[in-house]
Amino acid sequence: MSRLLVCPPDYFGIEYEINPWMQLSNRVDHERAVRQWHALMRVFEHDLGIALERMTPIPGLPDLVFTANAGIVVGRTAVVSRFRYPERQGEEAHFAQWFRSHDYDVMRIDTDLCFEGAGDLLGFSDCWFGGYHPRSDIGVFPLLSERFHREIIPLELVDNRFYHLDTCFCPLSGGELLYFPAAFDAYGRQVIADRIPTAHRMAVPEKEAVKFACNAVCIGKHVVLPAGCVATQTWLLARGYEPHPVQLDEFMKSGGSAKCLTLALD
Ligand code: ARG
Repeated sequence: MSRLLVCPPDYFGIEYEINPWMQLSNRVDHERAVRQWHALMRVFEHDLGIALERMTPIPGLPDLVFTANAGIVVGRTAVVSRFRYPERQGEEAHFAQWFRSHDYDVMRIDTDLCFEGAGDLLGFSDCWFGGYHPRSDIGVFPLLSERFHREIIPLELVDNRFYHLDTCFCPLSGGELLYFPAAFDAYGRQVIADRIPTAHRMAVPEKEAVKFACNAVCIGKHVVLPAGCVATQTWLLARGYEPHPVQLDEFMKSGGSAKCLTLALD
């Protein structure tokens, strides 16, 4: 992965409540959010040499910063999200326009199924996992599986604090996984256990899961994750990864962190 889509937080704020983290009374400190976002971008650009594509922020769309929900990109095809909540549906046209103007073939899901992009679809090169129920509908995964010739294993999300798959599940480049088991039902936990050997899985403790330790971006041997997740960092170090912790608590007020703020473009 060498290119990420991001969107500056000019209009980021809490203007509605669509997940348990969002509270209108918990106002964003705008200056602080801007500083945190730029610090994250510095890690990507300067420390890791990643190319960033910056979208133009739009007033009235406070969650446009969470570009993981733009859609998914597979080669030159972009599948644009269909958001569950009307509060975010206004973002769809802007994401579609960005993809079109950057020469992607834009694929729309032409049913009324919801799909929230890379927030709910992630995995390894051969096998993908699809999170469903709070935001995306399970019915979208067979369509995407057929279109892209990949196996997609559906995982139901059962704890509404972890409403997107990327809040509780993070595949790493070497085949390992960070995840928060209690965010899945027994079937989901079993499927994960069948696919990923115990030694390759870190069950992130709840204390760090609620800091969004799993909302991490893995690029080669580098892992960019929210600050304060010491056990997760220790586990990563022991497996040869270099953790890059970044303070992102202003974005946690909206239920998002490092991974939500990026979309892998290749
Ligand atoms: N406030 C946003 C929402 O509730 C946060 C999105 C976080 N994105 C993610 N990929 N987990 O939709």
